[in-house]
Amino acid sequence: MRFDVLTLFPGMFPSYLGQSLLKLAIERGLIDVQLHNIRDWAHDKHHSVDDRPFGGGPGMVLKVEPVVECVEATRALTPDAGHLVMLTPHGRRLDQRIVEELAANERLILLCGRYEGFDDRVRQLLAPDEISIGDYVLGGGEVASMVVIDAVARLVPGVLGDEESNRQDSFSGEDRWLEFGQFTRPREYRGLAVPEVLISGDHEKIAEWRRAESAKRTAEQRADLLDPAPTVEQPKENETERT
Ligand code: ADE
Repeated sequence: MRFDVLTLFPGMFPSYLGQSLLKLAIERGLIDVQLHNIRDWAHDKHHSVDDRPFGGGPGMVLKVEPVVECVEATRALTPDAGHLVMLTPHGRRLDQRIVEELAANERLILLCGRYEGFDDRVRQLLAPDEISIGDYVLGGGEVASMVVIDAVARLVPGVLGDEESNRQDSFSGEDRWLEFGQFTRPREYRGLAVPEVLISGDHEKIAEWRRAESAKRTAEQRADLLDPAPTVEQPKENETERT
């Protein structure tokens, strides 16, 4: 899977991408992350990418031309134009379902903003998939794009090694509950013992225990996940209500 990150600060990425799971995934050719500096598409000799907002107000706004042209040039680099994601606090809030949806693409183009955000014509012209990583405002979209890369890369076959771990993860699998507690050696530490059942070797019992633990933990910490609001099907146009 290929990720193209469009940013004013490409220097923020190599350290994160150069460690642990993502480093291995890149080395194994399972993911490819290409960084592009939006400033390279600035029009004037000062390479300016931001300007004061029309109508006044604090801060600076990312200019439309460098951003749109950087996106267009990046999309044209491969036959697959990719799925364009704009990281912005105004977007739909990222969760594991959206991560799964994003992972279904072969190529993601991640557009990171800075300052007070983008000139709104970027959104109007490019119709990106606007994604927020939570209801708070970051200094820019870079950390948010790393969150997307990290969460999506885990779903690329081969990255985790054992695909079962994806299904067991919190917010994943059929029920999307929180994951059960895990233990490793030693069997006892400061008076706290590992639950007997986990050492029993009885796989059916272990699965039962884990399911119960998962339910308990979800009820205690994220009851909203136990009873998701039912999705209401909207009647299609021309479809009259049956009596
Ligand atoms: N840029 C600034 N804040 C953000 C957020 N919460 N999510 C995604 N991108 C952002």
